[in-house]
Parts: sequence; structure tokens; C-alpha cells
Amino acid sequence: MEPFARRRGGLWAEDVALADIAAGVGTPFYCYSTAALTRNYRELADAFAGRDVLIAYSVKANGNRAVLATLARLGAGADVVSEGEIRRALTAGIAPEDIVFSGVGKTPEEIAFALSRGVVRINVESEPELAAVSQVAAARGAVAQIALRVNPDVDAGTHDKIATGRRGDKFGVDIERAPALYRRAEALPGVEAEGVDVHIGSQIADLAPFRRAFSRVVELVVALRARGHRIRRLDLGGGLGIRYGSETPPSAAEYAAVVTGLTAGLADDPGCRLVLEPGRFIAGNAGVLVARVIYERRDRSRRFVIVDAGMNDLLRPALYGAFHAVAPVAEPAADAPLTPADVVGPVCESGDCFAVGLPLPPFSPGDLVAFMSAGAYGAVMASTYNSRPLVPETLVDGARWAVVRPRMDYETLIAQDRLPAWLQADATERRRRA
Ligand code: LLP
Repeated sequence: MEPFARRRGGLWAEDVALADIAAGVGTPFYCYSTAALTRNYRELADAFAGRDVLIAYSVKANGNRAVLATLARLGAGADVVSEGEIRRALTAGIAPEDIVFSGVGKTPEEIAFALSRGVVRINVESEPELAAVSQVAAARGAVAQIALRVNPDVDAGTHDKIATGRRGDKFGVDIERAPALYRRAEALPGVEAEGVDVHIGSQIADLAPFRRAFSRVVELVVALRARGHRIRRLDLGGGLGIRYGSETPPSAAEYAAVVTGLTAGLADDPGCRLVLEPGRFIAGNAGVLVARVIYERRDRSRRFVIVDAGMNDLLRPALYGAFHAVAPVAEPAADAPLTPADVVGPVCESGDCFAVGLPLPPFSPGDLVAFMSAGAYGAVMASTYNSRPLVPETLVDGARWAVVRPRMDYETLIAQDRLPAWLQADATERRRRA
């Protein structure tokens, strides 16, 4: 069963009509499907059945605790990039040994925090960071089990802003420099270099860049082992693309076949645990953003559908020119004419535009539309720009649904600001006079 499908004239999330959730929480709102999260996780896990693999879900894609708890129940670990994400993963019930700490700019405080909570698997991205991890761990009498993130100089063929594996990108250590760093790590206290890590980018719709990058890191593992390093963790990052529109990304099984083919030779002593860090693959198609049409406006050349969600709620179209299909929640009449429309938000920027020239049926104010495939990098990238409160997130499981983050209220939004003493008296006086 498709988790988001048309039934009885409407769009449903599993056994709940999106219109019913809209009636309960208002618009805009995010809605995630437990069945879809589960299906996507299992698809990947099944593709690697029989392998020693940790699926460390990339929390940055969607860090809602209910989403994390859903995945934790299925056996997922977590890939985290900040103290906040470590805290989220732990409170969702993910064991510290199943958490890998990645990211180019971990502060000494964050490293100390991770170690204090038993999060010892750290992906190190640079030489200075190696020194910092060693120093912080040694001072605490801890040992960080590190993997060095290497930059294999492979173009992932994805959007420029989310490609990370080319020479000159800020991520990872040049693969040629890696052996020297492993040698250096041997001599440092507080670190044990147990792994190699790579992540070349996100929304990768083709296997070729994965194949190129992974064969380079496998070569590196073989070379490091030949020099006596006991490499027993190979972290291949995330990046597997999904279908937003016309893409035809590889399936989990096709991806797994590439990985298995390339890594088969690493299974001997000391063994090699695979770590995968999928984010979008698990959460992307498991969520939608539902908005309400405020106005339809036509001028001579264009038709604008103005909705109550904006770029602050779903930034991907404005930031990457990303495409999210727009689905009317109420099934349009079979003979409704489809005419090109620009779907735009209320934010005061021309970039606040979700789609250009999309063939859509006529709308009336109040109609609901769903932005599809918004489960990853949607709510997590939202802001309160234009003083718009963060929108609620909901989770469906079969016929039940729950608010898993309520709508931010205006008091919370505004009360965060503080008036310094010299403006307080002034403000009180003005209010008194007004
Ligand atoms: N591991 C590392 C080290 C990463 O940097 C990322 C994503 C992932 C795993 C998960 O990648 P995924 O499986 O989701 O492709 N905001 C952008 C995507 C940024 C990705 C950042 N890193 C977007 O909306 O497309």
C-alpha cells in the first residue's frame, strides 16, 4: 500500500485523511507516515541482510523525536552532527554505541559531551580535529574509536550545494594524505583509528559516483591493513537519492549490490562492520507538507496560487531550486482543466516560490494542497523568518495520528527577545501613553 494515496476523493496518509489532520491542527503542517518510515528502513536493512551493518539514520534529515523513536524500534542507530542531535538520538532511545558523531566543526565541548555520554564512535574530518579529539579524550581517560573521513575526489553529480566529495570541498581529508594521518593517530593518546569514512553528497541518483568513491576507500582500507592498521569499520555515509519527480534513483538492492561487490574482500580478520548513514532515503518520501490556498491570482501572463506555507517552512525549493510535487488534497473533478500555475508562499521574497508553471486544477481559497516528499530536510530546515511560527509536525500510524510537535505559539516566538534595561523603561512609558 502506498502510504500517501488517494481514497474516497481525498489524499490520505495511511488510514487518516489529511483533511482531518488539517481540521485538527490547522495549516500548514507536516505529516509523517510510520508505514513509510518502516518500509524505507526495512528496504535498506533487507538489502544488507546477512552483512554486519549499522544503519545509522542521519538525524539531520528529520530529527523529530517521534521519528527517531520509530526508527530506533526498528533497530536503527544514528548519524549525528551536533550536541543537539546527540541529545535527540539518546532521548529517542538510541544506544550510544549505535551513534556515530560526524561533522566538520565539532567543538571540544561537543566532543567532551559525546564521550561523556558514551558516544565514542567519532568520524574525524581533519588533522586539527584529530588532535582535538585525542586531547579531549585523553584528558577524560577515554578512548575515541575514530574513523577518518576521506575526500575521494569524486563528483557525486548532484546539486552543487550538496556535493561533498570533490577536492576543494570542505569535507574530509584528501585520500592521499590519509595513510600519514593513520600513522599519526597510532602515536596519539585517547584515539583508536578503527575505521574509514566517506560521504560524497546527497540526492545521488546514479550508482557510478558511489562505485568510484567506494572502490577508492576500499583500496585505502586494503593499503592501511597492509601497513598493520586494524581497520574494522567502513562508514559509507548517506546520499542515496529518492524520487521527487522524474528521477530514477537506484533501489536499495542495487545500491547494496555495489557495496557488497566492492567490500566482499574485507570480511576476513578483523572483519569489517559497514556503517550507512541514510537520511533522505528513509525520511524523504515518508512526509508531506500540507498547506492551504489563500488566494488565486491571475494576471495577463501568469497564474499564481498563493498558499499559507512559505520558504521558511520548506526551504528546499528556494535554496536548491528543488522540485516537490504539488498534490491537491481534494481530488479535482475528472474534467477540471489543468493550467500552468506558479505556487508561491506569503514570504516577502521572490524566491518564496514552490513551483513554476505546474499544470494544476483550479483552486478556491481554503483548498488544501500537499507538497510531496517533504519528510527529509523540511521541518528541520524551517525558520521563523517573517516572524512566522514553526508549523506543527504530525505522525500517522495506521488509523491513529498524533501531534509530535505542536505549532509554536506567538508568545514563544516573541518572548525569546529581551529588551535591554535602557529600552525597558522607554517601552513601558510608550505603552502607558498609547
Ligand atoms: N552523512 C553525512 C556525513 C552527511 O553530511 C549527510 C547529509 C548524510 C549522511 C545524509 O545524507 P542523505 O542520505 O540524506 O543524502 N539539505 C539538503 C541536504 C543536505 C545533506 C547534508 N548531509 C537538501 O535538502 O537536499
